[in-house]
Amino acid sequence: MTDIASDRQIRIFDTTLRDGEQAPGCSMTLREKLRIAKALSELNVDVIEAGFPAASPGDFESVKAIADANFGPIICGLARCNASDIEKVHAAVKGANRHRIHVFVATSKIHRDHKLKMAKEEIIKSAVGAITMARELCDDVEFSPEDASRTELSYLAEVVTAAIEAGATTVNIPDTVGYTVPAEFDNLFHYLMSHVPGIKDITLSVHCHNDLGMAVANSLAAVQAGARQIECTINGIGERAGNCSLEEVVMAIKTRAEFFALETGIDTTRLYPTSRLVSSITGMHPPRNKAIVGENAFAHEAGIHQHGMLQHSSTYEIMRPEDVGLSSSSLVLGKHSGRHAFRDRVQELGFELDEFETNRAFQEFKKLADKKKDLYDGDIEAIIMNVDNASSGPWALQSLEVQTSTDQPAKATVTLIDENAEVASATAGGDGPIAAAFQALEQVTGVVLTLKNFELHSASRGEDALGEVTVTVEHDGSSYRGNGTSVDIVEAGSRACLEVMNRILRRKNRGGDTNSAADAERATI
Ligand code: KIV
Ligand code: ZN
Repeated sequence: MTDIASDRQIRIFDTTLRDGEQAPGCSMTLREKLRIAKALSELNVDVIEAGFPAASPGDFESVKAIADANFGPIICGLARCNASDIEKVHAAVKGANRHRIHVFVATSKIHRDHKLKMAKEEIIKSAVGAITMARELCDDVEFSPEDASRTELSYLAEVVTAAIEAGATTVNIPDTVGYTVPAEFDNLFHYLMSHVPGIKDITLSVHCHNDLGMAVANSLAAVQAGARQIECTINGIGERAGNCSLEEVVMAIKTRAEFFALETGIDTTRLYPTSRLVSSITGMHPPRNKAIVGENAFAHEAGIHQHGMLQHSSTYEIMRPEDVGLSSSSLVLGKHSGRHAFRDRVQELGFELDEFETNRAFQEFKKLADKKKDLYDGDIEAIIMNVDNASSGPWALQSLEVQTSTDQPAKATVTLIDENAEVASATAGGDGPIAAAFQALEQVTGVVLTLKNFELHSASRGEDALGEVTVTVEHDGSSYRGNGTSVDIVEAGSRACLEVMNRILRRKNRGGDTNSAADAERATI
C-alpha cells in the first residue's frame, strides 16, 4: 500500500532494454543485453524491463537469459492484452526470484478509433481479462493504458479503476507520444488520485517520451503529484526523441532533495560508467552538452567560470563529477599499468570478461599503449568491444592495405583468416578507401551489404585517439548495426562491416537463428 505522504522512495523502472531498444539502430545482441542488465543491477535500479518476449524468439531468449541470471532487480516483460503474449512473458521471466508481467492496451480516442477499432467497453474488458490472467501467473502485475495523456480523463479513471479491481499492483501512466506538459500532467495525476478508489493501494507509475523535450520535467511533475515509480532509460534512448533519461531524473531528485523530499535507491556513482556502456554498445553517443553524462557536462571553459570554480566549486557546479562516477581525471591507465589494474578498471566499467577474454584484451591494451601515450576509459571500452566482436568468427581481419590519392580511385586489399586458419584475400577499388575495403570484404566473405549509415566517433581524446565506427547496413531486407574500433578509421570501418558479415554468416550456418534480437523479425507494438 502506498502512503504517499510518508513514502518518499521513488522506484526506478529501467526500460533501456525494451523501450530503449525500440529506437532505430539500438537493437542489441543477447550478450550485450546481459551486460547492460548486469550494469543496471549494479546501478541498483528497482525494475529492469528486459524486453517484449512475444516480439521475436530472440527477444524471448534475451528476457529469459536476463531473468535466469537473477542479478537482483525485479525482471519484467511486456505483453499485449492477449493470452499468448502473457504466457510468453511468464515463461521468460519466471526464472527470476522477483518477476513482473506488464500488460498494456491503448485507451485514447485516436488509438481506439484508428488503431484498435475497439469501443471503450471492449478495451476495459480486454484489460481486465489480461490482468486477471496475468495475476493467476504472477503476484506482480503492471498495467499501462497506452497514450494515457491523450485519453479522456473520466474514461482513463474508469480504466484505471477496473485495472486495480482486476488485480494490477502497479498502474503506469504513459505519455506515449511526448505530448503533455508538466502542469497538465500534474492535473491528470491529481484527477486520478481523487477519482480512482484504491489508487493508494497500488504503485502509481509514470512513463514519458521526449518528443517535446519534456520527458524529465513531466516525470518530475508526476512524482510531485503522487507517482512513486519512474520509467526511464539510460541516456534517454528510445523511439523517436527517446524516453525520460534515467540519469537526469535521478540526479534532479538527488540534487534538489530539499525541494522534492524524495529519494531513489540508485548508486549515482555508476551513472557515468553505465551511460558509457550503453553508448558503446548501441553506437548512440549522447551529445556533448547532454545533462549529467555529456562530455561537457562538467567542463568549465569560460574564464569567469574557471575563476569562480577555483575560488569555490559551488559557484558554478551544482553536482560533483564524482557523484555521477566521473573521475576528476579520466586518464586512467598507461603503458606501465599492470594486468591487475587493467582488470579492475574493466570491471568498474561494467564489463565481465573471462580469463581468455581478459588475456586478449590485455594484449590489445599493451599494443595500444605502445602506440598511444595516454589511455582513457573510452580506449578500454573500445578494446573490449573489439575483442568481443573479433571473438565471434567465422572471419577475422588479418591485414588491410589501402592506397588513396587525390586523382585516382582508392584501392584496398583485405586478408581474412577463418576459424580453420585458412587465409583468403581480395583486392577491390572504390570511390574512397572505405568503399574499396568494403567491396574487398564482400568478395572474400560472399556477403553483400548496402551501407546506410557510417558514423565515426572518437573513443577518447587527442589526435591519436581510437576511432569508433558504427555502421548501419542492409542485407536481404533486414537492417544490421556493427561496431569497430582502431586508430585507423578505415580499419575501424572494416571491422564494423566484418562484424555484421560474421553475424549474417553465423545465422546462415545455424539455419536462420540469429541469437540476436537485432536481426530477428519483430512483431510491432
Ligand atoms: O510509451 C508507451 O506507451 C509504452 C507502453 C507500452 C508502456 O511504452
Ligand atoms: Zn514508451
